[in-house]
Amino acid sequence: MAIFTLSAFVVVTVLSSMTLVSQGAEIGLCQGPCPEGWIYKNGRCFQHIADKKTWLDAEIHCVSLGGNLASEHSEDDHEFLKKLNNNDDPFWIGLSDIHKEGTWLWSDGTSASSEWDFLKWNPGEPNNSGEENCVHTNYGGQKDWNDTGCNGMFQSICALRLNE
Ligand code: BGC
Ligand code: CA
Repeated sequence: MAIFTLSAFVVVTVLSSMTLVSQGAEIGLCQGPCPEGWIYKNGRCFQHIADKKTWLDAEIHCVSLGGNLASEHSEDDHEFLKKLNNNDDPFWIGLSDIHKEGTWLWSDGTSASSEWDFLKWNPGEPNNSGEENCVHTNYGGQKDWNDTGCNGMFQSICALRLNE
């Protein structure tokens, strides 16, 4: 009986870990050279933060982990972050015009305003409706960027740059 229970346990454990591995492979997420808890993509490490926070608290949390809210510089980054978020709710990214209305800056210091390297606004955005200085994505019908009030509570994604 004990042997049967043990072998059943082993079979269940092995099968469930195989499922986990195959799910990981299916969505293509891996730790790579990143610290534990981070997922590697194109020279950076990313972590989804499920706890809902204001934009500033989300940024401060990312800074405490050694990074910033994630910036997006390609369609590939954009789709990857949505995949990592893995739910339908919007999440904060590092874009804001808190310093100067209409001047969009990434909190990690990368360029949005000078080169306009990548933009993914929903149609009609940014509209600064009321006063909206912070950007979340995965919002609205198109699931792209929307400027919204910085005190809204959303999930977020942090990014770390690996030392070059
Ligand atoms: C608008 C967004 C706005 C949001 C604020 C939506 O209806 O389309 O631009 O940020 O309301 O909650
Ligand atoms: Ca808006």
